[in-house]
Amino acid sequence: MTRHELGIDAKSLKEDSPVEAEIDGKKLAVFLHAGKIYVLTGTCSHEGGPLYDGSIDDGKLICPWHSGAFEIGTGKADENTPWATDIVAYSASIDKASGKVAIEM
Ligand code: FES
Repeated sequence: MTRHELGIDAKSLKEDSPVEAEIDGKKLAVFLHAGKIYVLTGTCSHEGGPLYDGSIDDGKLICPWHSGAFEIGTGKADENTPWATDIVAYSASIDKASGKVAIEM
């Protein structure tokens, strides 16, 4: 596992409002929920919808294309949206020196 700093200032994140990040060509969805930072796969496992443009509802990240739902803590696809399969939930932290969001991957 390698630590990657994302170019996102943690203080710029707004509650339940995902933003896009990219590491090594992989899109990520980054958001704040109940004061905690979450970073998940940014491309939907169904047909590639932009999860960074999704919404947060009842502890789930919702895909904007066909409403695939993923647990924000684990990336597990919701059983009520079986067309989507699990995505990755990364371990996120805030870099003390820069204040930027960082992940292990
Ligand atoms: S592309 Fe995300 S649910 Fe279809």
